[in-house]
Amino acid sequence: MDPRAKLQPAARVAHRRQDVWTIVNEAAAASPKQPIVNMGQGFFGYNPPQFIINAAKEALDKVECNQYSPTRGRPRLKKAIADAYTPLWGRQLNPDTEITVTTGANEGMLSAFMAFIEKDDEVIIFEPFFDQYISNIEMPGGKVVYVPLHPPPNGATQNTSAGEWTIDFAELEAAISPKTKMIVLNTPHNPVGKVFSKEELLKIGELCVKNNIIILSDEVYDRLYYVPFTRIATLSPEVERLTLTVGSAGKNFYATGWRVGWLIGPPNLIQYVAAAHTRICYSSVSPLQEAAAVGFEQADANNFWETAIQEMKGKVDMFNEIWAELDLPFSDPEGGYFVLVNMKKVKVPADYPFPDHVKDRPRDFKLSWFLIQEVGVAAIPPTEFYTDANAHIGEDWLRFAVCKEDDVLVRAKERLRDLKKYIEH
Ligand SMILES: Cc1ncc(COP(=O)(O)O)c(C=O)c1O
Repeated sequence: MDPRAKLQPAARVAHRRQDVWTIVNEAAAASPKQPIVNMGQGFFGYNPPQFIINAAKEALDKVECNQYSPTRGRPRLKKAIADAYTPLWGRQLNPDTEITVTTGANEGMLSAFMAFIEKDDEVIIFEPFFDQYISNIEMPGGKVVYVPLHPPPNGATQNTSAGEWTIDFAELEAAISPKTKMIVLNTPHNPVGKVFSKEELLKIGELCVKNNIIILSDEVYDRLYYVPFTRIATLSPEVERLTLTVGSAGKNFYATGWRVGWLIGPPNLIQYVAAAHTRICYSSVSPLQEAAAVGFEQADANNFWETAIQEMKGKVDMFNEIWAELDLPFSDPEGGYFVLVNMKKVKVPADYPFPDHVKDRPRDFKLSWFLIQEVGVAAIPPTEFYTDANAHIGEDWLRFAVCKEDDVLVRAKERLRDLKKYIEH
């Protein structure tokens, strides 16, 4: 045996092609328009509110906050989450049996898959999807089964709502097999910005109850919704019995680097998620769990949740004014902080010099590269969140993250005006 063979990476990490974040970062570094206005990755361009920052600083002064937390999370944070979500669930949540704290939502979801997925079990996800789901499902040997969200048919010619991205329920039902163990929902949705309606959730819930499928509901953007927001776990006791709801302090409190998340669910599911989490990383960052607890405890007194919605919706609307000027249609988000813009009308010169690793990718990768080079604004090509078979659905769109300071959004708008000369009417 070739001794070097032992140094080869496992298939689960040996990617064939460059990931979108590397491509966009490289394009940004190569652009003549420095510094780039970066509306690519969904991290915040500003700090959490001062009461939460203060809590983080104070936590570092406490001896017990610098040591291991209990594997299921600090009692103060579990209680704060239970108190915050009890009114939304309409019943008292038990902090000790129905909540477990994780290292961000992402590790929480990995723990859920590790807890329930055996080799060849199937997990249904909607396309486009948050890219981490795929590897997290594949690590324990699961098979991903894709169901597309269908974009509005007139999305290339007029402004639409993210709510017009629809599920074909016949397709969803056809995707269910005896091996289907879980389905992953994401509402509000990244990258579409869709908030699943109560009717849609009722139908999904009904299918899951009928087929005994665990629902992993990724609700990390749960505090940013601009239309009524329903949590699938609250629809009925039958649905709740199957549902693990995922949350993120990073998204809730503008602190994606803190890596604090949690799952809420019935004790017989939560105990196994917690068991997997114990084996993956034992426990999560202590001082920032304490700060997140204070965030929940003091959010209402600081009117934080309402302010968060108002401010983010303000950013969405202020940024989206540019599209009327450019005559480019966008999909208005119902939640979260991503805007999808349809770039079908943007004509990229036929002889434009794309690097090799972009040349062979779908049109949105070329659009993203072109925008970075020509106008100096970075946005994410959403086909990264599709399988190759369905990439054509997303290839005319680009995703802009608006969770940035207002002056950054204003600068982005100014630069985007340079796109005018490439737009065909
Ligand atoms: C839909 C979705 N789920 C989960 C996450 C990850 O959350 P966390 O940073 O808490 O791991 C993200 C982050 O972008 C996301 O967009």
